[in-house]
Amino acid sequence: MMNTRTWIAAAAALMPLAALAQQPAAPAAAATSVPKVVNVSMCSGCHTIPGYQASFPRVYRVPMISGQSAKYLEAALLAYRKGDRNHPTMRAIAMGLDDAEIAALAAYYAARGSDATK
Ligand code: HEC
Repeated sequence: MMNTRTWIAAAAALMPLAALAQQPAAPAAAATSVPKVVNVSMCSGCHTIPGYQASFPRVYRVPMISGQSAKYLEAALLAYRKGDRNHPTMRAIAMGLDDAEIAALAAYYAARGSDATK
């Protein structure tokens, strides 16, 4: 029979696995089925982590978008959608957004201020 200490150690070892199993779909999967309601959780996985780097297709430093002007953010998203900006992940994401969603996202991030961390 397991003593209490062994049991606790085993349970603790399994906990990270349980947490992993509960994680929502990866951003890449979300990008192919962008919901019509603006869903900033699909952006915050990359954009709200200071110093975060995306590793595909090579290592990119993910820019902080909070606090940039709405006009700039909107122009950037339109450029990804049109193909004038070429980052593949951002292009895939922008192509799933309509004009109203792009305007709403730009306004949201502009309003958050540059010291926003989430
Ligand atoms: C998988 C990670 C990832 C996700 C998810 C993501 N982005 Fe990005 N985003 C990046 C990277 C990397 C860049 C820099 C690409 C480049 O160099 O062109 C970028 C660039 C941008 C830029 C241009 C910023 C600038 O300073 O020029 C904007 C605006 C932007 N993203 C908005 C969004 C919005 C809005 C969402 C959600 C709908 C989103 N991103 C989701 C990784 C991501």
